[in-house]
Amino acid sequence: MYVCLCQGVTDGQIREAIYEGCCSYREVREATGVATQCGKCACVAKQVVRDTLSDI
Ligand code: FES
Repeated sequence: MYVCLCQGVTDGQIREAIYEGCCSYREVREATGVATQCGKCACVAKQVVRDTLSDI
């Protein structure tokens, strides 16, 4: 599903970024561009990052 409509970032892309080495929300944001425009997706994006990091 899309987490960030402004940048077209999906939860899958966020997970992928973490599997590829990102280890914080900030790094995921820099790598994917998520939440870099309106910012409305930040809460959900942070949650996906948190969930993914706690799974690995
Ligand atoms: Fe992600 Fe707007 S929906 S920055």
